[in-house]
Amino acid sequence: MIDQKALVKAAIAARENSYSPYSKFMVGAALLAKNGTIYRGANIENAGYSPTICAERSAFVTAATDGERAFDAIAVAGWGKDDLDPAGAFPCGVCRQFMMEFCDPATFLIIVAKSEDDYTAYGLEELLPHGFGPLDLKEEKK
Ligand code: THU
Repeated sequence: MIDQKALVKAAIAARENSYSPYSKFMVGAALLAKNGTIYRGANIENAGYSPTICAERSAFVTAATDGERAFDAIAVAGWGKDDLDPAGAFPCGVCRQFMMEFCDPATFLIIVAKSEDDYTAYGLEELLPHGFGPLDLKEEKK
């Protein structure tokens, strides 16, 4: 069983390290690898704007750099710096595509958190229907 609350707590903690001086929208992510390791990520913005990386992709890049290739779930905690009543944030389209690379869309969970006690889990397939992934490039599929 995935400890969703532990993952949400890790995402909220990672959010504290968000570098978001331009948007002031702080995002943290916690990615659970199949071996139980949790990789954290935060959004890291840039004066050039477009080099900005989202919290979710930060977590995936860190995990992949460690050699991880298999994941069960990611928690995302995103809201404005001074937001007292957070609505939470869904992963952007680019991050959903990034997830599609390493995760089984039928089982991978995306946990969108508003607080430590208020979060909802969605399936990757649900948030990225008919996603294009590595299997589509396999020769035997053609
Ligand atoms: N952002 C994330 O890190 N993840 C999301 O799910 C949504 C958006 C970041 C990118 C940028 O630094 C800021 O939030 C505003 O778009």
